[in-house]
Amino acid sequence: MWDKLWYGATIATCAANAKDYGLLKNAGIAIKDNKIVWVGNINELSSDIHSLAHELINAEGMTITPGLVDCHTHLVYAGNRANEFAMRLHGATYQQIAEQGGGILSTVNATQQASFDELYNQSAVRLQQLIANGVTTVEIKSGYGLTAAAEIKQLEVVKKLAQNYPITISPTFLAAHALPPEYKNRADDYINYVCEETLPHIIKNKLADTVDAFCEKIAFTPTQVERIFIEAKKYGLAVKLHAEQLSDSEGTQLAAKYGALSADHLEFVSEAGIAAMAKNNMTAVLLPGAFYFLRETHQPPIELLRKYHIPIAIATDCNPGTSPTTSLTLMMNMASVLWRMTPEEALRGVTINAAKALGLNKTHGSLEVNKVADFVLWKINHPDELIYNIGSVQPECIIKNGKCSRIKAKKGNDI
Ligand code: NIG
Ligand code: FE
Repeated sequence: MWDKLWYGATIATCAANAKDYGLLKNAGIAIKDNKIVWVGNINELSSDIHSLAHELINAEGMTITPGLVDCHTHLVYAGNRANEFAMRLHGATYQQIAEQGGGILSTVNATQQASFDELYNQSAVRLQQLIANGVTTVEIKSGYGLTAAAEIKQLEVVKKLAQNYPITISPTFLAAHALPPEYKNRADDYINYVCEETLPHIIKNKLADTVDAFCEKIAFTPTQVERIFIEAKKYGLAVKLHAEQLSDSEGTQLAAKYGALSADHLEFVSEAGIAAMAKNNMTAVLLPGAFYFLRETHQPPIELLRKYHIPIAIATDCNPGTSPTTSLTLMMNMASVLWRMTPEEALRGVTINAAKALGLNKTHGSLEVNKVADFVLWKINHPDELIYNIGSVQPECIIKNGKCSRIKAKKGNDI
């Protein structure tokens, strides 16, 4: 017998083999333990549904989507950069601020100085907001520590957050995010330090499952990134890359060569980069919050990504410098308005395609039998409304690993 059956819902399954939303009307979803055991049209079931599940829940016409997956965040950091936001409004550019020692490095200072508890508490607030906005799986990167000790502190905070909150966390090691000032003009030495001092500790203590880097003129060259990728692969970690955000450094091709899960940002990616992604079954992770906040005008090549059938994911990029947000629903709206992604593409971008970007698409990201029971009930009649509203729809009920973390829908035997 099933544990629970929700009925009377519109369900966007986002199933990998379905088209668009994979929409089911007058639908239901059943769970046992922490898994989905049935999803479909209610008429497919025997007339006496009471005998099927211990508990029946009337979804009262609400829409159910997979739990949202935020596949690119820098959520663990200290302080904020409201002052740089103001500087940019007075005419400075993101690159100029970074070159003057601000930007990522100012958050690095704040993060290095914060105690473990301060860092944990400030980050937990953002994680709670993400969860309240319907996210059940999140990727969190290091990269504001840079020294071995501070990178480890960041990833230990990630580990503790994962223990304390009802959310799946995929931890990523991003020490090659910015060059520490003490390594000025010695980027190769810093890369050696990352590979020889920091990474082995991360591996030994299982603090990350993936390695990321920032491949850009203001950060690291493809050759430096390659050194880190080779080390990561030696230890069996997955890789991914911040690529072609501000210019085309051909980082995407490098990421493809190392079988990366994803290339992220991609405003300046070339057709050759996209072809390399297609060949290597990569996901494109697009970050509309950073595009918007930096007032970028060079759009990611959506049409080319479609042409090459690249799965497109959308993420918050939650970070203090370029995307201070915890709303994936807002990101969906931005991706649609700014880049003309369809609402169906946007929802798949924060569910099944985002799960694929994390290598979790066998178990998460869509509502299919045998997948983990992670889903969200929204008080809307159709999934289009989730993308149409400018980030303002809040979940009515969130199910994580088969457990309700908040429920307003009535129990009922009135079907
Ligand atoms: O994804 N591009 C590099 N890293 C972040 C920005 C981090 C920051 O400015 O603090 C990003 O946009
Ligand atoms: Fe990022």
